Amino acid sequence: MTYDLNEPAADHGLGLPGEVHVAADADDLYDDLALVFTSLAIKAHDERGEFHIALSGGTTPWPFYHRLLIDTRFRAIPWERTHIWIVDERRVPDDDDLNNFKSLRGSLLEDIPTPPSQIHPMMVMRDDPAGLYEAELRTAFGLEGNSGSSPGPAPGGTPGAPRMDFVLLGMGGDCHTASLFPKSDAIHVADRWIVVNEGPNVTPPDRVTMTYPLLNAARQLAVLCVGSKKTEALVRVADQMKAGPDPVNVPITGIQPTDGELTWYLDKDAAGCKDL
Ligand code: 6PG
Repeated sequence: MTYDLNEPAADHGLGLPGEVHVAADADDLYDDLALVFTSLAIKAHDERGEFHIALSGGTTPWPFYHRLLIDTRFRAIPWERTHIWIVDERRVPDDDDLNNFKSLRGSLLEDIPTPPSQIHPMMVMRDDPAGLYEAELRTAFGLEGNSGSSPGPAPGGTPGAPRMDFVLLGMGGDCHTASLFPKSDAIHVADRWIVVNEGPNVTPPDRVTMTYPLLNAARQLAVLCVGSKKTEALVRVADQMKAGPDPVNVPITGIQPTDGELTWYLDKDAAGCKDL
């Protein structure tokens, strides 16, 4: 696929669900996303006094986190009023290199003034890590009266689910996102916000992950894909969308915000743009 970058992003005909932002290169992409993130943070702070974000693991976001830290244009982010959640976690100890929170701590959390009480790692080595995280969500969002995630249709949102202001998602080569892997049990969950996902269809180690009902309740969902290795999966998503979402086999097509926005942030290599 080749696309004329001079066309407005939305007209690229990429066929992805939601908005598509294509930047000339990764550096510009991280810049663009950081500008959006900063404006969302300020808006959330002005409107609700706090900014709730949920961040994914993987390596793609690392340069983005670094950009937020070093560039003075992003100094206005109200980190003191930000809550940082994890989209998903591997069931390994905190000090394991596979642990997403460990990576996040090193690439962002150690350098921002967010109070520890507002940084929410998943207690994945405890019993019932999903129940623990849902309880933490209820407390932080003032939903104590809510008996848990309300039942509702997956993959849409559920009434009463906590609304993240910003969720950063990646996508794997199999079109998984979060730890929602093709044909895995978590794909079908409609009545929980957080679940353990394990079994033959989950890339080891076992995971704890946000579910579609929680993710789709978010105000803004950003899928960040960089580099030509992501092109094939993006094409697969676009092809699938011609026939309609298929979360079981193409999990990221289950990301369908209930009352929010989904935006894909791609560099030209990921988008398959050859001419600039
Ligand atoms: C994880 C992530 C996962 C990730 C994708 C993309 O725990 O691994 O949450 O969903 O976002 O696998 O990973 P990369 O950014 O490393 O390509």
